[in-house]
Amino acid sequence: MTALQLPLETERVVIRRFTPDDAPDLLSYAGDPAVMAWIPQGTMTVNEMPNYTAVNTSDEAADFMVVHKRARRVIGHISFHPWFAENTWEIGWVFHPAYQRQGLATEAARAVMDHAFGVMHIHRLIATCQPQNPASWRVMEKLGLRREGHFLRCIYRGDDGWWDEYFYALLAEEWEKRGKR
Ligand SMILES: CC(C)(COP(=O)(O)OP(=O)(O)OC[C@H]1O[C@@H](n2cnc3c(N)ncnc32)[C@H](O)[C@@H]1OP(=O)(O)O)[C@@H](O)C(=O)NCCC(=O)NCCS
Repeated sequence: MTALQLPLETERVVIRRFTPDDAPDLLSYAGDPAVMAWIPQGTMTVNEMPNYTAVNTSDEAADFMVVHKRARRVIGHISFHPWFAENTWEIGWVFHPAYQRQGLATEAARAVMDHAFGVMHIHRLIATCQPQNPASWRVMEKLGLRREGHFLRCIYRGDDGWWDEYFYALLAEEWEKRGKR
């Protein structure tokens, strides 16, 4: 299976591998508990950076940095990694609050999605989020993914109780018909 071939470029952003120099930009938003409220791994800390750097500068990388061309800084990242089923990949996103609500997550995710179907020839793209996170499921819907399920109380969060989960997906044949822009 072909891996993501980087960099990918859109009108406003470049998506590329993480480098150790990106740590301050990354922590400026991923270190913010408000931004990471619906991320199962929680807030990122400086202590996690050595392991994060080792993974995300290797062929096992799962997070890809989104660089704003004009601002010349990392403003978010797209997660993209194989899921359990054959030729099926999962996508996710986290963006700095100062760059949210400008269509940037959708723009970056669409570039990864189009590359995944158009170049890697994946069979299916999936994405999950919590119902209380409309910004995330709006991105899924703007990309053309379909809501396939609403799992009730399926993720245990300790003191936070159980989270529900929305499950979205898009098949290659659907992308051919209506996902491609
Ligand atoms: C989810 C996230 C990446 C979206 O980034 P973004 O760049 O703002 O996304 P876009 O601008 O492309 O689209 C966001 C959409 O959600 C909508 N939206 C944002 N906040 C919303 C809210 N509180 N209620 C309803 N809709 C909301 C926006 O209006 C937009 O939809 P529209 O284009 O139809 O108006 C960003 O909010 C984020 O980083 N959140 C914190 C991390 C996170 O929760 N990641 C997802 C985990 S599953």
